[in-house]
Amino acid sequence: MNILLIHGPNLQLLGRRQPEIYGSQTLEDINSHLREIASQRSVDLKTFQDNSEGAIASFIGDNIDWADGVIINPAAYTHTSVAIRDALSAVNLPVIEIHLSNVHTRESFRQHSYISPIAVGVICGFGAHGYDLALDAMIQILQTSD
Ligand code: DQA
Repeated sequence: MNILLIHGPNLQLLGRRQPEIYGSQTLEDINSHLREIASQRSVDLKTFQDNSEGAIASFIGDNIDWADGVIINPAAYTHTSVAIRDALSAVNLPVIEIHLSNVHTRESFRQHSYISPIAVGVICGFGAHGYDLALDAMIQILQTSD
């Protein structure tokens, strides 16, 4: 089982970026914790972070033959990116959208997502723990689709 874990713009600053909203864990804390859980569950996890939309779209397309599912925090591109949505649709894999914060309690521009309509599900508001929930949900989705 091969799963992509993709982080969008500014998430490389986790731990220092508005910790009252996004928590104190760094991106490496989140990635290494998820890698550990993934290996315990015999899942191959590939992690990726980039600040540019094109690099994220390319990474998704480049993994069309490797990945079985995609967990993505598109960050600000959630609210703007047709290109990332199209890349996800193109590879035709189950997608889980995740946000650390509860975007629905925040500014109105964060309440529209280009990604949600093509996602199997959306997790938001649980901080870093949301990634554990997303991985668990993706494993379940892939096990039942076998
Ligand atoms: C975010 C929410 C987005 O609105 C914001 O642009 C981010 C992070 C989150 O994880 O809560 O960069 O995706």
